[in-house]
Amino acid sequence: MVEKQLLNLNILVIGGGIAGLATAYSLAAAGHTVTILEAAASPKEVGADVTRILFRWGLASKLEEIAHNDRMLNTYLCRYKNGEILASYAGGDEAAQRYGGLSYLLHRADLHGVLYDLAMPHIIYRGSSRITTINPHEPSAVLDSGESVVADLIIGADGIRSIVRDAFVGGSQQARYTGDSAYRFVLPGDDVNKVPELRSLLERPTVSVWVGPQKHFVAYGIRNQQNLNVAAFVEDADQSAEYSWTSESDTDGMRAQFKGWDPRRSPTTLKYKIMDSQPLKTWVHPSGRVTLVGDACHPMTPYRAQGAAMAIEDAECLGKLFSHITRLEQIPFLLKAYENIRFERATTIQRLSAESGPYYHLPDGPAQQERDDRMRSEMEVRDALAKGEIVPPEVVATVENGRKTRQIEDDAQYKYDMTQVTEKWWAENESAM
Ligand SMILES: Cc1cc2nc3c(=O)[nH]c(=O)nc-3n(C[C@H](O)[C@H](O)[C@H](O)COP(=O)(O)OP(=O)(O)OC[C@H]3O[C@@H](n4cnc5c(N)ncnc54)[C@H](O)[C@@H]3O)c2cc1C
Ligand SMILES: *[C@@H]1O[C@H](CO)[C@@H](O)[C@H](O)[C@H]1NC(C)=O
Repeated sequence: MVEKQLLNLNILVIGGGIAGLATAYSLAAAGHTVTILEAAASPKEVGADVTRILFRWGLASKLEEIAHNDRMLNTYLCRYKNGEILASYAGGDEAAQRYGGLSYLLHRADLHGVLYDLAMPHIIYRGSSRITTINPHEPSAVLDSGESVVADLIIGADGIRSIVRDAFVGGSQQARYTGDSAYRFVLPGDDVNKVPELRSLLERPTVSVWVGPQKHFVAYGIRNQQNLNVAAFVEDADQSAEYSWTSESDTDGMRAQFKGWDPRRSPTTLKYKIMDSQPLKTWVHPSGRVTLVGDACHPMTPYRAQGAAMAIEDAECLGKLFSHITRLEQIPFLLKAYENIRFERATTIQRLSAESGPYYHLPDGPAQQERDDRMRSEMEVRDALAKGEIVPPEVVATVENGRKTRQIEDDAQYKYDMTQVTEKWWAENESAM
């Protein structure tokens, strides 16, 4: 069979966050001419978690530089009042064996920087270029200067308040405020290590999560354990609050929210409202020339820390598919293929992320006790088995049953190879294009 000539497309990516940079790189690597239109004047910190794809993009050593590639990345779930460990989820060797990848914790700004450096030599990056609207049929994007930029294909990577998304979805599919807010701050390691109760948090690469009524609190080391990244999630009383990107400094507000908690805690604090959305009815504009990636497409709560990972999978999928294009008329087919391949995966993670909030936030009472007892017995059984103690099979079975749900969810989340899935799809469906 003669190798067909790739058609070089002129692609516009709106937004230069993690999704935009990853998508631009992936499509440029597939042989296309890609321009990013980014509203911000200079590349800024935005929106951490996908290693298989990043390794394929040649970023293994870069990632090791900015993260800790320690194999002991465990997650501990603790009770909010006294810090009792209720559950531990293995990262490290167990996860590496199970999922064939490594787990990294990164600062979003670091990941953004790595992707920026990766993409820049291959793309055109226009800062200070805010788009006000798009014409999906031409297709073109209109900048706030009035300039209109025409392309063969437009990809909306413009985040949760996407203007590109406005072109093809209506009311109920808009992003919505979940009612939860996040307080986030980073503590310098030197400060953390001065406090004896906090020192353990940076000793080993672990994620500590304290769960309690209407809130939870997450802390982990970043930048090779040099800093402690902290996020506190609360169900806000003010459910009507308007979402805003402007983050307030609200340390007192956060202290008040966490009164009476395990007292290891904090300084300057940013507050964000947590948004997500219902799954969109379609990811491809009827014109067949416009699609969405990242938070513009499937905004999710950060409770499974998968937002950036999903954006990078979107990028990989589009790049793989568009490495096959030979005629302009094939764009709608390839965009539908992208939706086909990505939709279920992304919306499942979106749903699981939404469900994690209420599960962590159970008020003290029977449901919470049942949750905590289940977690405790899992740990006891695992510890006993690890020590070689004899545990009655029926106890193991009960515990294993309880674990199964989480394991199935985790498997779906991590045992997934976007590159392979896309290649398989292509091999089977190429003839339909
Ligand atoms: C507080 C918080 C915590 C998070 N924690 C995690 C986590 O632990 N793990 C994880 O995986 N994910 C997390 N996420 C989500 C993750 O950051 C995003 O899912 C991921 O970065 C993908 O974002 P994006 O590129 O789609 O959108 P964004 O990062 O929002 O980028 C959108 C870009 O588009 C630009 N833009 C917007 N409008 C226009 C316009 N009209 N014209 C031109 N440019 C425009 C913006 O300036 C911006 O650069 C978190 C998000 C938040 C807010
Ligand atoms: C081929 O495409 C169909 C329709 O989109 C899809 O259901 C099927 O899963 C695809 N094949 C593979 C191997 O993904």
